[in-house]
Amino acid sequence: PQKIYILGIESSCDDTSAAVLCNGQVLSNVVASQKIHELYGGVVPELASRAHQQNIVPVIDQAIKQANIKKEDLHAIAFTRGPGLMGSLLVGTSFAKSLALALDIPLIDVNHMQAHILAHFIEEDEFDIPEFPFLAMTISGGHTQIVKVNAHFDMEIIGETIDDAVGEAFDKSAKIFGLPYPGGPLIDKYAQMGNPKAFPFPKPKVGELNFSFSGLKTSVLYFVQKKVKENPDFVAENLNDICASLQYTIINILIDKLKKASKQTGIKSIAIGGGVSANSGIRKALKEGEQKYGWKTFIPKFEYTTDNAAMIGIVGYLKYLKKDFTDMSVVAKARIQF
Ligand code: KG4
Ligand code: ZN
Repeated sequence: PQKIYILGIESSCDDTSAAVLCNGQVLSNVVASQKIHELYGGVVPELASRAHQQNIVPVIDQAIKQANIKKEDLHAIAFTRGPGLMGSLLVGTSFAKSLALALDIPLIDVNHMQAHILAHFIEEDEFDIPEFPFLAMTISGGHTQIVKVNAHFDMEIIGETIDDAVGEAFDKSAKIFGLPYPGGPLIDKYAQMGNPKAFPFPKPKVGELNFSFSGLKTSVLYFVQKKVKENPDFVAENLNDICASLQYTIINILIDKLKKASKQTGIKSIAIGGGVSANSGIRKALKEGEQKYGWKTFIPKFEYTTDNAAMIGIVGYLKYLKKDFTDMSVVAKARIQF
C-alpha cells in the first residue's frame, strides 16, 4: 500500500501546532502553547496571532524533522479553516496556502470541531476506532456540543450550549478562585483531593439536549463572595472541596445530557473530544457508563484531546482519500457549522 504523508497545521486559538501523518498514523505532533495569555487571565487575540506568526515556521520544521521525512515527501497540506479567532486562523491559512503552492501539492481545509471528533480515527495501538453511528460530545473552551456522527463527514449537532462553553465554566470559576489561566486542569488537580459533596451547586434547567453554564458561573461567584465575607481565607482553606464540588456538578450536567441523547437516539457508542475531555472526572464517569448504561465509550489519547495538529492531519488524510481538495482562494472563517 502507498504511503501518504499529510502535514496538519492548527492555529485556531492559542496553540500553534503541526503534525505529520503517514496514512492513519501520527509520526509527529508538535504543539507550542502560548504562555503569554496566563498573565491576562484569558486568551488575548492580538497576542495570539503574533505568537502564531512567530512560532509557525519552527513548529512546522520540527514536525517534519521529527517525522524523519523531507518537505518534498508530503502529499498534501491540511489546515484549520475555522471556527476560531480570525487573526489566529489567518496565520495558519496563509501559511498552508503558501507551502502547498511552493510544493505544488493539494491544500485541504479542516473544520476544527469536526477534527476534535475525527481524532478518534487516528490509528493507535490499544485505541479502538468507533463504528458509525456514534454520539460525540465535544467539550472545549469554545464549544459544548452533542453530535450524532453518521459517517466521517455526515454529522448532526443534536445539542449545544446556549451560552458559555463548559471549558469557560471551568476557567471562569478558576479565575474566581484566584487560579491562573487556563484553570480547568488545576480544578481537575485539586478536585482529586476534595469532597465532591461538600458544597452543592445548582444544576441549570435547560431543555432538550442543550446546555447552559453561565448560571453556574454566577452561583459560584455569589457563593465565594458570601463565604469570603464570613472568612477571608475561605477559598484557600477549602480549595480542594470547592473544586471537587464544582467538577462533580459539571460532570453530572454532561452525563445527564449524554444519557438523554443515548436514550433518544438509541445509540450506545459514545466518544468525547476537546480540551475538557482531558478531565479525569469526566473520563471516569464515562467509563462507569459502560457498566451502568451499557455504553461503549471512546476516550482519546491525552495528547489528542486539547488542541493539536494530529487531529487536523487525520481529517486531511480522510479528505485526501476522497480527493476532497480546497481551492487556493479559500478564506478562514471564525464561525462555521459542519
Ligand atoms: O480544545 P481546547 O484545547 O481549546 C479549545 O478549542 O477551546 O480546550 C481548552 C479548554 C480550556 O477551557 C481548559 O481549561 C480545558 O479545555 N481543560 C480542562 C482540562 N484540561 C483542559 N478542563 C477540565 N479539566 C482538565 N483536565
Ligand atoms: Zn479545540
